[in-house]
Amino acid sequence: MGGSTQFIIAGNWKMNGLLQESLAFVDALTANPNPDAVEMVICPPYTLLHPLAKPFADKGVTLGAENMYFEESGAFTGSISPLMLKDAGCHYVILGHSERRDIMHEGNTLLRKKLDAAWDVGLTPMFCIGEHLEEREAGATNDVLKQQLSVLAGTDANLPLVVAYEPVWAIGTGKTASPEQVAETHAFVHEELARLGRKCKVLYGGSVNPGNAESLMACEGVDGALVGGASLKADSFMEIVAAAARVAA
Ligand code: 13P
Repeated sequence: MGGSTQFIIAGNWKMNGLLQESLAFVDALTANPNPDAVEMVICPPYTLLHPLAKPFADKGVTLGAENMYFEESGAFTGSISPLMLKDAGCHYVILGHSERRDIMHEGNTLLRKKLDAAWDVGLTPMFCIGEHLEEREAGATNDVLKQQLSVLAGTDANLPLVVAYEPVWAIGTGKTASPEQVAETHAFVHEELARLGRKCKVLYGGSVNPGNAESLMACEGVDGALVGGASLKADSFMEIVAAAARVAA
């Protein structure tokens, strides 16, 4: 870990999850083996935030959202505001996920507005960064991450923040970065954050599963995981939580 005290194991359900199956997921969740060592977080689609807020709270799961718009309210048809997420019981909001950067063309200017708006209502951003395969192969990983982290310049270092390093080539592909790549890249991210006056948890994301979670969580500078596919089933999510708890022990 990067000097922090508690791993965060966060599930990003992306555009998956209907009401009945999500309630079955909650039923199937077992107890967190060590709440002092691991915080469990799930970020479901917007439609499930209200119905899951209490069931998740009862199971010790912190609620997060997958995205939001930056305005508080108004004529923005189809958008969700930070205040609505707060009202639904969210603590976290994922911002800057590569799927939003790549598919919805979100860039630094918009992401800075979203970060500020999240902080304004007391949400903790889970800010995602990560390079594409061509960028890694061209030796440009650190430049890309530095450029993505530059949105934090000039922000108040006391405002809560979690960063998630998710190499785009490892997302949904079954390929994970090697422990060496993870340790090296996380070291760079922590260093860059320090240069920006920040110290925060840095999660790893990209094909994390019950089989690789323990070795990934054991990497220097890794403070948790942002999990896509393997967070959709309660048993695999709990196995990842258990792996983090073992590393913390
Ligand atoms: P997978 O775990 O499915 O690769 O997704 C990772 C991710 O994008 C989490 O935000």
